[in-house]
Amino acid sequence: MPVETIATQPFTDQKPGTSGLRKKVKVFEKPHYLENFVQCIFDTQHEMEEAPLVVGGDGRYYNRQAIQIILRIAAANGCTRVILGQGGILSTPAASHLIRKHQARGGIILSASHNPGGPDEDFGIKFNTPNGGPAPEKVTEALYTATRHINRYRILDTPDIDLDKLGTTTVGDMRVDIVDSVSDYADLMEQLFDFDKIRERFQSGFRMRFDAMHAVTGPYAREIIENRLGAPKGTVVNGVPLEDFGHGHPDPNLVYAKELADYLFGPDAPDFGAASDGDGDRNMVLGRHFFVTPSDSLAVILANAKLAPGYRALLTGMARSMPTSQAADRVAAKLGLPCYETPTGWKFFGNLLDAGKITLCGEESFGTGSDHVREKDGLWAVLFWMNILAERGQSVAEIVREHWRIYGRNYYTRHDYEAVDSAAANGLVDALRAATATLPGQQLGSYVVDYADDFRYVDPIDDSVSEKQGIRIGFKDGSRIVYRLSGTGTEGATLRVYIEAYEADPAQHDLDTQQALGELISIANNLAGIRERTGRNEPTVIT
Ligand code: G1P
Ligand code: ZN
Repeated sequence: MPVETIATQPFTDQKPGTSGLRKKVKVFEKPHYLENFVQCIFDTQHEMEEAPLVVGGDGRYYNRQAIQIILRIAAANGCTRVILGQGGILSTPAASHLIRKHQARGGIILSASHNPGGPDEDFGIKFNTPNGGPAPEKVTEALYTATRHINRYRILDTPDIDLDKLGTTTVGDMRVDIVDSVSDYADLMEQLFDFDKIRERFQSGFRMRFDAMHAVTGPYAREIIENRLGAPKGTVVNGVPLEDFGHGHPDPNLVYAKELADYLFGPDAPDFGAASDGDGDRNMVLGRHFFVTPSDSLAVILANAKLAPGYRALLTGMARSMPTSQAADRVAAKLGLPCYETPTGWKFFGNLLDAGKITLCGEESFGTGSDHVREKDGLWAVLFWMNILAERGQSVAEIVREHWRIYGRNYYTRHDYEAVDSAAANGLVDALRAATATLPGQQLGSYVVDYADDFRYVDPIDDSVSEKQGIRIGFKDGSRIVYRLSGTGTEGATLRVYIEAYEADPAQHDLDTQQALGELISIANNLAGIRERTGRNEPTVIT
């Protein structure tokens, strides 16, 4: 079959520091667009060239077309073997697992995470390295350079293959193994958690709902929760992945997973509710009439980790992204575990996980994970909670309240100002940075500033330095305000303000979060001059 070499132009859409692209489908459908990016992956990834490449995506619109193109380019570039999820489906954590299991040269994952899908919505592609995780800086730099210089791509002139038929096929000389998307991942979960115990709980009447939001986790959740754990059929809702996620926004939070939240706060609420996002790496967990913040979830999982068979052995340490609340730090301190604070983004956990420095990690943005893969893992977090609930026999609310009694409560909120004028947002952060030098010691309302800086991270494994990761203002009583600009927004700038206060007194643990944080919220607004600089009176989203 002939390899065609097609002349092309350098590609200008790649952002430095990323191993992927996230754009409208219409952009991906432009001639040579996806082809260019995929060729750049093969032009830069020569490490472990003989090993297989894992390919799969979240099933959104354009997933299938993109996979056919990737296979043709892979074959034309001498790739010898691809491992492909059936129907082109792999959740992001399942892809990470397959890369590790097969000691693959890496993986190409197709997803725009929690962004909507469909002909007029978003598509995305990213390359993960042989450790199963997001690419480190040296890889993203090489990729960026390649995109700036590319002038041709190679593609095989060959018909589409059947993506749905399990087994081995070929594209030119390249072997393609189409594997069950779910079974390897489900087996891994079965090793980590006590499925017998959870099954017993279902038999004695435990009720839950898992909302797959018409995204990739549907088949995974059905196999694990309904088939292997014996939950009644119908426990998993919106379980069929759709190309447009049923017109939904597959982001598991109280706004976009409202149907689930309403059910959990309603009269017929089950014991437990959970959801995951488009590509299966985020999670939200709820109890009956109770929402667990992602920061608290990380802390509770850490405190109860020994209840899950996969985590009974020594935990090595814990990491959280800088803006995530300090609730888990308190648990780590009590367990005598090292606790790392990393910049926002999962890739910063990779080195710590690879070096065996941490077992568990998480972010406030509904991401939790462990050393079992190198991505955050939505269903894994849900199963961890199910294991804890099965062992403890208490409700979600009882477990979290008891946790607060032991460790104190970190009240926590995030205020997002979306699509703000970029110059205004940058000006606001610049002014705060300039003010950090004079803030320590100042009294702001009833709070005294302890430290203020622009977070700088030195990776403890490879000493790489990441500057300007967000303004932190810490107060003497442990409260904190953090400001940073989103790295994932698509329109203008998104300003995120994270506010946290520590409360040791159990009599004060049942306050409304926004009220409990009221004074700190106004300090945060005034200090940054949010109203004056952005023209906004209110955040777009409060989490
Ligand atoms: C957001 C989250 C961050 C997460 C990232 C990718 O990034 O805040 O924790 O790692 O999405 O899911 P941001 O838009 O804040 O840069
Ligand atoms: Zn995601």
